[in-house]
Amino acid sequence: MEIIIQPDADAAADMAARIFANLIISKPDAVLGLATGSTPLPLYRKLIAAGLDWSGITTFNLDEYIGIGPDHPQSYHAFMQGNLFSQVNIKPGNIHIPDGMASDPEAHCRAYEEKIRQAGGIDLQLLGIGTDGHIGFNEPTSSLASRTRIKTLTERTRSDNARFFGGSGEVPFHVITMGIGTILQTRKVLLLATGKNKARAVAGAVEGPVTSMNPASALQLHPSALVCLDEDAASELTRCDYYRWVFDNKPSWQKI
Ligand code: GLP
Repeated sequence: MEIIIQPDADAAADMAARIFANLIISKPDAVLGLATGSTPLPLYRKLIAAGLDWSGITTFNLDEYIGIGPDHPQSYHAFMQGNLFSQVNIKPGNIHIPDGMASDPEAHCRAYEEKIRQAGGIDLQLLGIGTDGHIGFNEPTSSLASRTRIKTLTERTRSDNARFFGGSGEVPFHVITMGIGTILQTRKVLLLATGKNKARAVAGAVEGPVTSMNPASALQLHPSALVCLDEDAASELTRCDYYRWVFDNKPSWQKI
């Protein structure tokens, strides 16, 4: 894992935007894995402002709530449309988000995996992290080999996400999410985390044991995982001096 610590959330988003922009420019037909939540919002704003060409880009989102349609304001379809897709020239046919209204969700999950495969796999997967270490909606105790499937949210995640729904009673119980195995198969992952409330989950993911109790710790098994943090999210890591030293002394061909 490569840990990049930036002074604040805006600088962390800048770094992540640079990594995404570099890929979109160098590989105009890249396949991106995208995420929702508050954390990626500044990154999406920066990518929009960069005026990049998205006409050849394909995207796969990590997850969606079951039982709410794409027009529901809290659906991840609506989130992505409002915060990114409506403001770049991506082709609607190149956008993939799990369908929370699929009549046969299990068949839909299998088909989603197949579409990722047919697209040639995901070049760069963006991830946030839940306060319990979840990635996508892979809650603690998710199989580290899991593929896209239906999951039941924990009470903690439902209450963390209640702020968007006007009370946790409205947050769906079930979701479709790419699995941890699906995420581990992507060519590169970029986990972006900001804020003190993520510090414990980040420390467990980076410096703790690989355990399904902290699903993000599975990224230790990924051959190319970048973890981009602000100071607050990095505040419970014990090896920050080393991470900073590695970043400051990158050989020129590895500079971001
Ligand atoms: C949701 C999403 C995750 C996201 C997490 C953290 O549960 N399914 O992909 O990482 O929220 O969100 P936030 O960035 O708002 O803290």
